[in-house]
Amino acid sequence: MHKTKVAIVGLGTVGAGVAKILLDHGDRTARNAGTTLWLEKAVVRDLNRPRDCELPEGVLTDDLSEVTGNPEIKVVAQLIGGIEPARTIMLQLLESGKDIVTANKALIAEHGAELFARARELGRSIAFDAAVAGGIPIITNLSQCLTANRISSLSGILNGTSNFIASAMEEQEASYKWAVKEAQRLGYAEADPTMDVDGTDAAQKLAILAHIAFGAKIDWKTIPREGIDKLQAVDIRFAKELGYRIKLLASAQLSDAGLELHVSPSLIREGRPLAEVRGPFNAISVEGDQVGPLFYYGQGAGQKPTASAVVADMIDMAVGRTALTFRTLKLFTENHSDVEMCSP
Ligand code: HSE
Repeated sequence: MHKTKVAIVGLGTVGAGVAKILLDHGDRTARNAGTTLWLEKAVVRDLNRPRDCELPEGVLTDDLSEVTGNPEIKVVAQLIGGIEPARTIMLQLLESGKDIVTANKALIAEHGAELFARARELGRSIAFDAAVAGGIPIITNLSQCLTANRISSLSGILNGTSNFIASAMEEQEASYKWAVKEAQRLGYAEADPTMDVDGTDAAQKLAILAHIAFGAKIDWKTIPREGIDKLQAVDIRFAKELGYRIKLLASAQLSDAGLELHVSPSLIREGRPLAEVRGPFNAISVEGDQVGPLFYYGQGAGQKPTASAVVADMIDMAVGRTALTFRTLKLFTENHSDVEMCSP
C-alpha cells in the first residue's frame, strides 16, 4: 500500500488522539485515503513530559526542522493552542511546503486572513474543521454542503466546557470550582479555562462560523459576549424551578437591520432540543433559505471527537481534496459580502 508521510506538531490531548487514530487505525485511513497516513514525526517542546500515547521509536522529536526539512512529509497536523508560537510555526510549515490541518480556533479567528493569504500565495492549504464544535462537521457543512443557501440564522452551544460546567451544576449540584477542574481533567477545557468560561472561546468560534455562513469578516473581539463565569448555583436552581436550563448560547441572526451576533448565558425551556444538550456536547441550529432548518448535535470537546475531525481533514489533504478548502481560504482572504453588521 502506498503511504503518505504526515507529522503532528503538539502532542497534548488532541495531538495524542490524532496519533492514536493514525497508529491504531491505519486500515481506516488507508481505506478512505487510498494511502496509509504514516506518522513520521511528532514534534513536542519537552521530550520528557508524560504523554497519553505510545509512539514508535524515532517518531518523537523536539526539533521542528525534522518536519520542515523533510520534503517527504506532505501533511502536518498543527495542534499547538494559543497564538504564539503556533502562528510562527504555521508560517514555517507553509513556507516549507506543507498542507496544514489545525484545531486552533483562536489562531484562525485572530490570524486566519494572514495565514490563509500566505497559504494561497504558496499554493498550500489549511483545513480547520476541528476548530469549531469538535466532532460536528459544521465547517465542512457550511462551506461545502450549504453553499446554495442564503443563511439567515446560526445559533447554538459552541463551548463544551461551559456546557459541561452548567450541566454538572444542575444535575449533580456540583460546585462551579469542582466542575471547572473536572472539565480540565477530562481534557475539554482550554489551557487557560478563562477563555472557555468568559465567552471568548464561543465568540471566536462564532466569528469563524459567521464568516463562512455570511461571508462577513468579523473581529471576534467586537462580538458582545458574556460567559458563565458569574453563574451561581442559585441561578441554576431558580431556572430549574421555572422549567428552564441555562445554556451559553452563541447566536448570529441576519435580518433587514443587518447581522447581529452575541454570546450570552440564556434560559432555554426544558424539552427544547438545545435544553437537552448536556455535558461536553455542542449543538448548532442553522436556517438556510433553500434547505430550511438544520440541527447539528455531537461532542464539541474532548480527545476522540476532535481528533476524528483532524484526521478526516488530513485524509482530505492526503487525497488532494483541497479545492474545497481553497474556497474557504478565498472567502477568508477576500471581502465580498453584502452583509452589514449591526452595531453592538
Ligand atoms: N475548550 C473547548 C470547549 C474545546 O470546551 O469547547 C473545543 O474547542
